Amino acid sequence: MCGIVAYTGSADAVPILLKGLKILEYRGYDSAGVAIQTSTGATEVLKTPGRVEELDAVVAEADLSGHTGIGHTRWATHGVVNHQNAHPHVSCDGEVALVHNGIVENYLELRAELAANGHTLTSDTDSEAVVHLIETHLKAGESLEDALLHATSRLKGAGTFVASARSQPGKIVGMRMGNAGGIVVGHSEDGNMLASDLLAVLPYTNRVVYLDSGEQSIITDTSVIYRDGNGDVIDKEVIISERTAEAAERGAFPHFMLKEIHEQSERVASAMRGRVDFENGSINLPEIPFSDEQIRNFDQVVLVGMGTSLHSAMMGATLIESFARIPAKAENASEFRYKNPVIDENTLVIAVTQSGETADTLAAMEGAGEQNAKQLAIVELDGSQATRMAHGTLLVRAGLEVAVASTKTMTNTVVCLYMLAIHMATIRGTMAPEVRKAAVGELASLPSGISSLISQEKAFKAIAESLVDCHHLLYLGRGFMFPAAMEGALKMKEIAYIHAEGYAAGEMKHGVNALISDEMPTIALAPAGHLHEKMVSNVNEVKARGGQVIAIVTEGDEIVPEIVDKVIELPAASEALSAILSLVPMQLLAYYTAVALDQDPDKPRNLAKTVTVE
Ligand code: M6R
Repeated sequence: MCGIVAYTGSADAVPILLKGLKILEYRGYDSAGVAIQTSTGATEVLKTPGRVEELDAVVAEADLSGHTGIGHTRWATHGVVNHQNAHPHVSCDGEVALVHNGIVENYLELRAELAANGHTLTSDTDSEAVVHLIETHLKAGESLEDALLHATSRLKGAGTFVASARSQPGKIVGMRMGNAGGIVVGHSEDGNMLASDLLAVLPYTNRVVYLDSGEQSIITDTSVIYRDGNGDVIDKEVIISERTAEAAERGAFPHFMLKEIHEQSERVASAMRGRVDFENGSINLPEIPFSDEQIRNFDQVVLVGMGTSLHSAMMGATLIESFARIPAKAENASEFRYKNPVIDENTLVIAVTQSGETADTLAAMEGAGEQNAKQLAIVELDGSQATRMAHGTLLVRAGLEVAVASTKTMTNTVVCLYMLAIHMATIRGTMAPEVRKAAVGELASLPSGISSLISQEKAFKAIAESLVDCHHLLYLGRGFMFPAAMEGALKMKEIAYIHAEGYAAGEMKHGVNALISDEMPTIALAPAGHLHEKMVSNVNEVKARGGQVIAIVTEGDEIVPEIVDKVIELPAASEALSAILSLVPMQLLAYYTAVALDQDPDKPRNLAKTVTVE
């Protein structure tokens, strides 16, 4: 979704903003722009549909420089992708420049009111209404920070806003309204920054503050002031981020996605470090904020998430229910938020979200909070909004994920859910010690299992290249393999643009069998386990109807390879860990199919890494 970066200080703002916008590209965007306060006292706005490189060229041509500026990458929601709709937007008198991430729900009403009051709106966006509202307040003699506060009080929706005003040079104001995207404030000796993402400030400083809903940050070259929703000055603690700017480099890999797939073995090990005691066969999760008594009293667990995180949540629900014997279910956060769910203080709600900023997931958490549910966030990005809303956080420790398609964060998330399920089972006494020790002990072979799959990359590439002419693919699985099948299909859809469906194999006879033909290959997830025979039947049914099958099996399987067209072998593992392992070849299948089709796997069309609007 939209990216924001702003700087005011002693250095030239232009290269800082352009570098920040380049870093923010991974969030997904279609246009980019900057507004710079120049030495002549003017505010120059340059913007363009397309890539940041195109903006770069426009800016170079204009020979732009200045010490204060705001920048934006737009991910279109209201209005087509064109020059007028790109940000920054400016007021009629050119006084105010504004960038926005989020949605103003009552924009039609506001635009009509502003037009009736004599404002000329030049774009089709919801955001532009806000710049004209600010203009009205500035004309009434307000400071920029008060004008922004009062303008946003008219809005319905959620978003983040960053504005500058020509008559108040050297000052930039940022504000967060609701849970649609965050603002991180970077404090440094050479100037101060606002950004939608930590990564854009890390090249300059690791001293940061995250704004909460309703809060403002007013930055100048030498000062940073925080205010609450009433305009009162507040104190915010400056955090030292442990992330480094280098995390955003892709090294020798052609794409971030491939780099991130390759990192999984090492990242999984870091998710377990200090948390798994292999000697005693136990799990130690001191970050879980609930007492043993609370854990014993939970009468249900609801995991909420979207996309890949929903698939992780589905695996987590099965793990928690089977290990800790608590009814557990995964819910799509965008559905959950509008339900009237039966939850209370004995419900554990687990928000599964890599970014910790997904609008629907945060809204689901908000609703759960109103019902007094206990909340745990399973998150990659520390300091994100989900971590601030939950009672506690289990960080997945996958390291920065830049590619839009999630890979290592899912693997690590499921490993965290596996550890959590064992932790809860231990407290509730629902797992016999030998069973627990075996479940813990098995984790030791996960990193090497992942490495051995990655070493077969060439074989997966060859299979991927055989899929490029397909228009439809079916992914089938049962048990833990059902969410894995859904995830495999999602990866293929999002980066190779091939229609793919993940199905519970038992559903086939209830409709989907009608689609089977030699034109729709099936990826059958059939590793060893109590559902293996059932999957063998499903595979036979597909074959009997002329379908091609690529099977993912456990090494040593003597049945499935005999009846299918192509085989991918997983190292021997339990059903739960086989599901985690199966993600790796499916990620590589999707990656190499996208590459063979000449698509950029890191920046799939129409998608954003962090979905901060609903
Ligand atoms: O940041 P989150 O995990 O909350 O994001 C949720 C989804 O947008 C995300 O998992 C998305 O489906 C994946 N990036 C797709 O690969």
